[in-house]
Amino acid sequence: MPSAQTHEISAARRLENIRYAIRDLACVADELTRQGHKVVPLNIGDPLNFDFQTPPHIIEAVYKAMRDGKNGYAPSPGIPVALEAIRGEAARKGITTVRDVFVTSGVSETVDACISALVNPGEDILTPRPDYPLYSAILCKLGIALNTYDLNEDDSWQPELADIERKVTLHTRGIVLINPNNPTGSLCTRQMLEQVAGLARRHNLIVFSDEIYDKLILEDTPHIAFASVAPDVPCVTFGGMSKNYLVPGWRIGWGIVSGEAAAVKSYTDGVQRLLRARLCANHPEQYAIKPALEGPQDHLVEVQRKLRSRRDLTQKWCEATPRVSCVAPRGAFYAYPRIDIPESDEIFVKELIRQKHVMVVHGSGFGQKPGTQHFRIVFLPDEATLTKAYAGIADFIRERYGKSL
Ligand SMILES: Cc1ncc(COP(=O)(O)O)c(C=O)c1O
Repeated sequence: MPSAQTHEISAARRLENIRYAIRDLACVADELTRQGHKVVPLNIGDPLNFDFQTPPHIIEAVYKAMRDGKNGYAPSPGIPVALEAIRGEAARKGITTVRDVFVTSGVSETVDACISALVNPGEDILTPRPDYPLYSAILCKLGIALNTYDLNEDDSWQPELADIERKVTLHTRGIVLINPNNPTGSLCTRQMLEQVAGLARRHNLIVFSDEIYDKLILEDTPHIAFASVAPDVPCVTFGGMSKNYLVPGWRIGWGIVSGEAAAVKSYTDGVQRLLRARLCANHPEQYAIKPALEGPQDHLVEVQRKLRSRRDLTQKWCEATPRVSCVAPRGAFYAYPRIDIPESDEIFVKELIRQKHVMVVHGSGFGQKPGTQHFRIVFLPDEATLTKAYAGIADFIRERYGKSL
């Protein structure tokens, strides 16, 4: 008998800083669930956990594709009918200089492919702070040092241009915009997009504009695509089905490359090489892209109505609760209140789960300015559930910290 192999196989050191606070908290919640408690999940942005339903006609399209035998590998960039529909969507968004489009396994894979195809060792990409943690996770995976720029809470969470200027170096290759934003729910103004475009031109940066929530706008002002404001600037606009079309489990996203053709050619070839290496995105699900983008959009009216009502309820609660303040969200389904407490927001969140069985995510899980504390609320549940959860959070704050500062 050979002796048993007991030497520990360690994970790569570059993974040490990878955290995904949104799901990491689940261990605390699992323990409570095992004890028989019902935990209210205000932590994961999955509308299907609540009273939102996938439009039936897109389910039919995928079902038909499967029955019609579309179950083999798809072309690496995506099926032609979907690529054509995404080009149509780009045109509706006002993007006039489209150079390439491709379909991926969720926007998550677009982010991975677009960053991996860009950075060499020693280079960096500017990412917002706070940010959606996938960006920092992928940069860590590639061994790329983080270079974050602040979003300014005092300016409705707009990117802080002076901070971006300070952080750009000769090794900076790109900048990430998340618009509408996760975790803050903010929208970039046209003026801000123009200023970021100017900065990208001056420093030869590519802009990655994550617009996965572009149809979930809670104001009367329309969403403005970065690439529509800056047709000449190299840009990849990220879009997908998960949120707008209520199918996060289908894993369908895409990238729209725009800018001067000569400027983006070599980079786009690099992205396509990576896409070929991973074979293809989910095949039958791609048949839903055209009916989703070009078919009835009725579900969006209902989704926006619910989200506006839940955003208003959330905002009122933030305004009425001692120690809490919040910039009103204008898009997506996240609120990012600031909280004045004498301990870390991670302890706040973990104790809140244990004592009141309400799960939100700590601001330190997204990155924040030192000395500030926040938590992210997903306001997808119905009004009754939110009201009960917010009463629990208010009780917790009062019991643990007292009413006043
Ligand atoms: C800003 C942002 N980008 C990308 C993603 C990933 O989306 P997908 O489900 O398409 O991978 C999310 C998911 O929550 C997100 O909030």
